[in-house]
Amino acid sequence: MSRCKIRVPGRVNLIGEHIDYHNLPVLPMAIPRYITLEWAPSKGNLVQVESAGYGVRQLPLGGFIEPSAPGDWENYLKAALKAVQTRWSVSMGFQGSITSDLPSAAGLSSSSALITALTLALLYANDIQPTLEDLMSILPEGEQFVGTRGGGMDHAAVLASREGFASLLHFNPFAVEHVRVPDDWRFLVAHSLVRAEKSGAAKARYNACRTAGLSALAKLGLSSFKEAKLEDVASLMGDERDAFQHVVSESHRVRHAVEAMRCGRRAEFGAILSASHGSLRCQLQVSCPSLDRIVDIANSSGADGARLTGAGFGGCAIIVCNDITKPVIIAALERKFYAQHAEYNRNEHLLDVTAANGALYAN
Ligand code: GLA
Repeated sequence: MSRCKIRVPGRVNLIGEHIDYHNLPVLPMAIPRYITLEWAPSKGNLVQVESAGYGVRQLPLGGFIEPSAPGDWENYLKAALKAVQTRWSVSMGFQGSITSDLPSAAGLSSSSALITALTLALLYANDIQPTLEDLMSILPEGEQFVGTRGGGMDHAAVLASREGFASLLHFNPFAVEHVRVPDDWRFLVAHSLVRAEKSGAAKARYNACRTAGLSALAKLGLSSFKEAKLEDVASLMGDERDAFQHVVSESHRVRHAVEAMRCGRRAEFGAILSASHGSLRCQLQVSCPSLDRIVDIANSSGADGARLTGAGFGGCAIIVCNDITKPVIIAALERKFYAQHAEYNRNEHLLDVTAANGALYAN
């Protein structure tokens, strides 16, 4: 039987960090780096998948799904099987193999892309054509099986993004607005060379950010961040105060950044990104020295702005620039940061990215 192919891109978040799980809008875009799953239906209910370099995993459909050892990629397969079976009754398995050119543990959503690819294969093997809304109703919750209880940003971005556009994502109710990226804007994604494993230490710190925000809301007697005002911060203290201040100010920054993008005001957009980094570093404390160094080097060599992207604790920074400043920034990063790191590889660690199609449009 001939094999089908599913390609799920990674995503880079332009702005709106650590606020999607509070149901506030965010602005990511899909990037042209992919998890690729080639698959064919199997005869019975067995799902068997090989991931290049990580071995084969095999599971039957149905029955109770218990977590495997932390860090085992089988957990991603289990997360997908479980997510699908919360909503559909499926009986046909599939055989597949996975390859990827999307760096993992880099804050570029390789985990969500992997779970999304496995979920789509299982649904297609059972002749189910899910809508975006169907997928959004199972994937964010489903990924909790592997580690963090994130928001819906990653899944929505890797599914619904359009080439040439950033995705302004709204939650509760869920909606996607595509915002055209001006033709002369350029983006670099620079890896801090610090891995941010979702299943590792970053998980507890990520979840702590969410909890601090929620308890700030509870203290203020508010039911949602949509009702929160920056001046309310005065009645909070400690982590709750910091989380609240970050969330509310980041939400304002998203609104202004979208306006700046719509009007082609790159310098203004960049300054908003840099302000976001400041808040993530000082208020939420999810940056790290290598990310701060990359942001500083980029900004002092002509970038319009830069900030960490994704959950933080390592991973990548996003840098906004133009055709003239881009080579200057690349040279500065290579000379002042990557020259001290033997493991640096241009193709894996310093990416030129454009806005790509999500999986619902990419295949
Ligand atoms: C991770 C989560 C997302 C989001 C970001 C931080 O990528 O999966 O849902 O919360 O962190 O903005």
